Amino acid sequence: GYDLWLRYRPVAAPARAALAAQARSLVIPGRSATLDAAAAELRRGLGGMAGVAPPAAATLAPGAILLARPAEARRLGVAVADAPELGREGFRLRGMAWRGGRITLVLANSDLGLLYGAFRLLERIEAGERPDRIDFATAPHLALRMLDHWDNLDGGVERGYAGHSIWDWWHLPDRADPRYTDYARANASIGINGTVLNNVNASAESLSPRYIAKAAALADIFRPYGIKVYLSARFSAPIELGGLKTADPLDPGVRAWWRAKADEIYRAIPDFGGFLVKANSEGQPGPQDYHRSHAEGAAALADAVRPHGGVILYRAFVYAHDNPEDRAKQAYDDFKPLDGRFADNVIVQVKNGPIDFQPREPFHPLFGAMLRTPLMMEVQITKEYLGFATHLVYLGPLFEEVLRSDTSGAGGPSVAQVLERGAGRPGLGGMAGVANIGDDRNWSGSIFDQANWFAFGRLAWDPEASSEAIAREWTAISFTPDPRFVTPVVAMMMGSREAAVNYMTPLGLAHQMATGHHYGPGPWVHDLARPEWNPTYYARADADGIGFDRTATGSNAIAQYAPDLARRLADPRTTPEALLLWFHHLPWSYRLADGETLWEGLVRHYDRGVASVAAMRRQWAALAPYVDPERFALTETYLAIQQREAQWWRDASIAYWRSVSHRPLPANVAPPA
Ligand code: GCU
Repeated sequence: GYDLWLRYRPVAAPARAALAAQARSLVIPGRSATLDAAAAELRRGLGGMAGVAPPAAATLAPGAILLARPAEARRLGVAVADAPELGREGFRLRGMAWRGGRITLVLANSDLGLLYGAFRLLERIEAGERPDRIDFATAPHLALRMLDHWDNLDGGVERGYAGHSIWDWWHLPDRADPRYTDYARANASIGINGTVLNNVNASAESLSPRYIAKAAALADIFRPYGIKVYLSARFSAPIELGGLKTADPLDPGVRAWWRAKADEIYRAIPDFGGFLVKANSEGQPGPQDYHRSHAEGAAALADAVRPHGGVILYRAFVYAHDNPEDRAKQAYDDFKPLDGRFADNVIVQVKNGPIDFQPREPFHPLFGAMLRTPLMMEVQITKEYLGFATHLVYLGPLFEEVLRSDTSGAGGPSVAQVLERGAGRPGLGGMAGVANIGDDRNWSGSIFDQANWFAFGRLAWDPEASSEAIAREWTAISFTPDPRFVTPVVAMMMGSREAAVNYMTPLGLAHQMATGHHYGPGPWVHDLARPEWNPTYYARADADGIGFDRTATGSNAIAQYAPDLARRLADPRTTPEALLLWFHHLPWSYRLADGETLWEGLVRHYDRGVASVAAMRRQWAALAPYVDPERFALTETYLAIQQREAQWWRDASIAYWRSVSHRPLPANVAPPA
């Protein structure tokens, strides 16, 4: 699994000779580290797939692969027009006739666009396409496509399920682990152009001179691949690192400290991206400690990086102090009044839903409410609440569901469009994914979790893309393009997220995971220090019913959505059934759309989740002939665990609901094993 989707295994014999003839030489008029990376990748990829790596050539001949800007291509005699539609990072792949044969043109307006094009060309070939017949163009819809590593300086990864951090802080900056280059290759191949190296629960130490030097060494390795380095900044670093008495963002000494710190970082990393900030959230320091707003807090850091072209990614994940009745409301309450008041290089980073990366949440109401502030959407690629690296859950449909959500409830804009518009400054829109990468040999802890990294990159590039098409592409290039394999695997992946929702938190339930680690069921937990950490706070189950009333009779969180949408959410009959118990507290006898009672429906959903996993496991077992024994066995083992644990989820959850509802099991449902 180390090679991810960049496997480049030899293609079958007759096609191999044909591919070699279609990729006989490599013509690259420009010269840069980025183009060197593109050439190296093409040689590696074609060397692997065709058996011969195409040599560099100065002139075009049939069988050439040409990487060029439009003017460079014209100078070599290729008739192409300028391509402003490709922007700075887009590319076109085009097979074309040339002097009695054919050539493959990779066209872009920058070296980075050409590198992206080279990767995509190789992926298309891996998927079984002929390079010299390709005609394909794409440009990213979002400017910022970032991975957030929750990696600590001691090598641990918060919510990481794939081993330790890949950053070997101990030996940096001296040791350039080749894995860093492979990391950059994998990310560039899916268009990721930013990486936050350290955890949002940041140690001030990460901004110390020692660590700046380490980050700079990584930035040097990533630069040719178009990946900028960012750091999470601890709001109180001026005290801890600078020895100041305060971190008050309006204090001149504090502002000067941040400016000097930014200058120091930019001396080491001239293209440093900026800071990611978690403030006044889960015990982290922040501007509210000094009775300042989040906008004032963000401004102190924004001013420091602005002269260097940097940005501040300021997280809206805040809860605890003033919304005991509904945690889901606090981000909106804190941030909505600040819309339009953030500095011009601040982007507010909003989680996909209002609670915390649950198997299913409605979209975060801030996406429909911060019209004057550029927003990033943060999703979790690492599966904290979705069975870690053990359960097979393809997150593409989850990401897609949020991106397609209609923020107005009256015909758009969708969340994707909100991100694309960047509040009128499209250069500031983006997506951030909490990475699922560790030093596990297969990077992500399981083979199928690689697909979540891949899908995140593809959706950050084009948030309107289809997660099913992405799954098909990933499957073809990671295993084989054989439809006898691809079709069932894609079906399995596409159903896997709903399966997890069903066996964990069906019908809009949320946060029923066991304490702390969030693995396995814990619906009965009610005695944790903070009320909003308890599963019972979310499900509110008793003898009469279940669900969280977020309508006007309850927390009225629905009022944070646009009026047309809020009106529909006010009534259980017009609320999507998948989110029913997120918005409503309903009697066990409530009738669902298909006529079953809520109780029967709930049980049925758990059962369906278990059945889906059993079906996935059977399906995978039948696919052994198409997969190497190692990746087959790992996935088989994990599916067996997942089946057992899906049953655990179902049985434990139903047993607990029964203990409060005092209802018998509906007919046709097997009693807990
Ligand atoms: C979740 C997660 C924490 C993380 C936090 C965040 O609550 O459990 O580990 O720090 O999200 O996003 O800041």
